[in-house]
Amino acid sequence: LSVLSVASEAFPLVKTGGLADVVGALPAALAAEDVQVCTMLPGYPAVMDALTEANEVFAYADMYGAPARVLRGRAAGLDLIVLDASHLYLRVGNPYLGPDRRDWSDNSVRFAALSGVAAEVAAGRAGLPAADVVHAHDWQTGLVPAYLRYRGGPPAVMTVHNLAFQGQFGPGLFPTLGLPPQAWSVEGVEYYGDVGYLKAGLSLADAVTTVSPTYAAEIRTSAGGMGLDGLLRARGNRLVGIRNGIDVTVWDPATDPLLPAVFEVGQLSGRSLCKAALQARLGLARDPDALVYGVVSRLTWQKGMDLLLQSLPALLEGGGQLAVLGSGERWMEEGFAHASRVHPGRVGCMFGYDESLAHQIQAGSDALLVPSRFEPCGLTQLCALRYGALPVVARVGGLADTVVDANEMALQAGAGSGVMFAPGQQEMLEAALHRTAELWRDRALWRQLQRNAMRTDVSWERPAARYAALFRDVAGHGTLSRA
Ligand code: ADP
Ligand code: GLC
Repeated sequence: LSVLSVASEAFPLVKTGGLADVVGALPAALAAEDVQVCTMLPGYPAVMDALTEANEVFAYADMYGAPARVLRGRAAGLDLIVLDASHLYLRVGNPYLGPDRRDWSDNSVRFAALSGVAAEVAAGRAGLPAADVVHAHDWQTGLVPAYLRYRGGPPAVMTVHNLAFQGQFGPGLFPTLGLPPQAWSVEGVEYYGDVGYLKAGLSLADAVTTVSPTYAAEIRTSAGGMGLDGLLRARGNRLVGIRNGIDVTVWDPATDPLLPAVFEVGQLSGRSLCKAALQARLGLARDPDALVYGVVSRLTWQKGMDLLLQSLPALLEGGGQLAVLGSGERWMEEGFAHASRVHPGRVGCMFGYDESLAHQIQAGSDALLVPSRFEPCGLTQLCALRYGALPVVARVGGLADTVVDANEMALQAGAGSGVMFAPGQQEMLEAALHRTAELWRDRALWRQLQRNAMRTDVSWERPAARYAALFRDVAGHGTLSRA
């Protein structure tokens, strides 16, 4: 089965979040299921630079104001199709934001172009053989199912990684999209009088997935649906949750080249070295008995980082240290920076994006904090499980599906891989911090929980099998031209 996966990021080429990890890791996992994935990306500078064995397979004289080319090649182990359109994508920095940290004013056009060309490629109209199924990710590719539906092409699976980002643009855009008049409807791309990219994908894809079973249930409710719950409920059993995995070759504490020392479940001495190195790197007191909490996160409201700032006194009273790597809202960065000045040796922070420090925090902290208000899946808690940092997480979305709370009954059964609390409230987070500190006091019990965590299967193996089954299902039931 051949799949064209279309996205705006892929690790290690372009990454602003977990979307890139998923898009970068799924192809290898699906290959084991006999599904061949070709990944289509915009021609950002990093993608153009990494591309090898590139051939031009198609050219457009005018793609929203200038010529564009479709390239086929390889980069970072991925089989790639790249939309090379320098006027749209050849910009330095973040893929979505200009230097002023605001969205590029032409994002609507940049991602309409990507989606339109992806549909042509998938249908075999752009110099390459047609794909059996198209896999579109997030709002940037939400128009792919629309182009396929109205112009003909293979069936589409739309995956929502985060319903908070919907890609909604004014109605003046519609006439430029090259879609037929009937696409301007409730069943099509129209969304409260605007053009809705994600909305279009959710209503027109042959199947919709999201990245955990609990998030799939949450987004059908008015509390979690962000305005789209009615549509999502209407999709019935065509909406499924498949939890994410992580690339266990990139995230492997036994071989990780980014760590000062390696370790594995039966041999944890390297982990103590990682903890000492982390404490040194972030200016924390070098104390093996201090309970080090790690954070690797966007610093935003979604991630509950404001709640963590409020709960900092409780964390410190319990004897904890805090190691933060994050970037995001200025006021939150300032909050953590202030805390590190007021509590030297107890709070250490780094702001910005740092792949090696992310690995070192997973390997060197005792627990990883993820106090999200909502979390479609979350990948950092999966890395934490694999690296033996017990996840302390809000009971929401994919966090609820991947961590086993070490409550009294779980402990009786020899189970538990982390600590969970009800989301969104400082008091609940503080209670979880107290409970974690109590578990830490019993070092033999802690080791048991750590072993449980490290033995959890966080790989892509099981989820990839579910994607493969879904792709085969839609390929069997899809019709080739439904225009
Ligand atoms: P989201 O995609 O919502 O930000 P996820 O947990 O799904 O959250 O994925 C976040 C990914 O980004 C993980 O791979 C994590 O390690 C990485 N990450 C987040 N912040 C940073 C940072 N400041 N530096 C390096 N990696 C980061
Ligand atoms: C989004 C979500 C995160 C998820 C990631 C990959 O960024 O916020 O929870 O893990 O996508 O699916």
